[in-house]
Amino acid sequence: MASGLAEFVVIANRLPVDRITGPDGETTWRKSPGGLVTALEPVIRRKGGAWIGWHGAAGEKLRPFEHEGMNLVPVPLSEEEVEEYYEGFSNATLWPLYHDVVAPPEFHREWWDAYVRVNQRFAQKAAKIAKKNAVVWVQDYQLQLVPTMLRELRPDLRIGFFLHIPFPPTELFQQLPWRRQILEGLLGADLVGFQMPGAAQNFIRLVRQRVGHKTHRDTVYLPDGRTVLAQAYPISIDAAGFEELARTPEVIARAAEIRESLGNPKVVLLGIDRLDYTKGLRQRLRAFGELITEGALDVDDAVFIQVATPSRERVGQYILLRDDINRLVGRINGDVGRIGQQPVTYLHASYPREEMAALYRAADVMVVTPLRDGMNLVAKEYVACRYDEKGALVLSEFAGAASELKSAYQVNPHDINGMKQMLLAAINADPRENARRMKAMRRQVMENDIDLWAANFLRELNAVRDPHAKNPRPV
Ligand code: F6P
Repeated sequence: MASGLAEFVVIANRLPVDRITGPDGETTWRKSPGGLVTALEPVIRRKGGAWIGWHGAAGEKLRPFEHEGMNLVPVPLSEEEVEEYYEGFSNATLWPLYHDVVAPPEFHREWWDAYVRVNQRFAQKAAKIAKKNAVVWVQDYQLQLVPTMLRELRPDLRIGFFLHIPFPPTELFQQLPWRRQILEGLLGADLVGFQMPGAAQNFIRLVRQRVGHKTHRDTVYLPDGRTVLAQAYPISIDAAGFEELARTPEVIARAAEIRESLGNPKVVLLGIDRLDYTKGLRQRLRAFGELITEGALDVDDAVFIQVATPSRERVGQYILLRDDINRLVGRINGDVGRIGQQPVTYLHASYPREEMAALYRAADVMVVTPLRDGMNLVAKEYVACRYDEKGALVLSEFAGAASELKSAYQVNPHDINGMKQMLLAAINADPRENARRMKAMRRQVMENDIDLWAANFLRELNAVRDPHAKNPRPV
């Protein structure tokens, strides 16, 4: 961004860095572990691009800064905006509404006002730093108004939007008092990307019904001659990076150490999730607890490790869930545990990628049972780490990943008995059968990684017809 202006701009709720405070109180930044930054970092570097996002602390204004070749532009949020825009409208209205209302969404007018205000701030930042004809890629449900706000400020830009979470069926979306504004906000983009084709269809149908624009298949025709394309781009992971990590002697040794510290049980089951009510933690723990109580699994033979990463800890539904899971784990261990033999090892903590890779390698059965999930990258990470073609994946049919990972042991997480049967099937399967399934899943994951996802989206964004230009602009 030598000229002070960027040719490629990513806008996301969070910056791709975490602040680290050293023992002497000095703070530094460390790149966040997510796949999105892995995929976009090279494009940002190559293009002299920039990433606009919140730096994670309320009430603090920071100047733009550079980190490992990326220009980072922090957006400040006041304490009140964190409560109303982030915890409120984003995570207590949109998040449950977009996840099949598995928790009741709350509708508050002052939260909406904060959402509008903060989206405007993000759009203004982008308008200020984007070069003429730049490409801007807006990420996720926190920023659905940005595309149109930005287009109003800068009609020359090429704007893409990607929704990382599900887009709900029309019947549920209609509950939102601001449904029309959200749809109109998204229509500022040239390309709107979703995880699943069904989500793109929901969006197109809603635009036709609620906004009244003409649509044909995946295209919306706006009165000014512009078109908006809505398509599915299933997101993925840095698959080669995970496999490489899983192959390191340190990770292999750590995986053996984990099994050893559990008393070398015959079967290790594993769940790794953000502590979120969409993830189906209750259902999976109940299924496992019942298998032990009923004697289908022996407490000496089977251990369930559940890692629950702390998340959105001040939001009411997350506080309730945390208490609920604490109680459930306590009950299972209290009822069926023995001295030195706890069936559930529950860890409310977040771990570095190396430890995750070791856990994946240590687990015979990975249990991923969300009630609704846009994609679920943990399922893909497990598959990427199992280059040994060992292990089995039990996967909810309500995770986006289920349409790609067809060889997983697929379950309906609401059906506890069905889930118990599938857990036993995965545990007792002939290793050759599990190897066959893992091989098929690995082909899918290793060939369709996060780089391909980003390249596909950006290629399509570049190709979208611009009614005002003769030639498409290069990305
Ligand atoms: O899945 C949606 C998402 O926003 C991810 O992009 C992110 O990693 C995760 O949820 C955690 O969200 P938050 O920023 O609220 O901690």
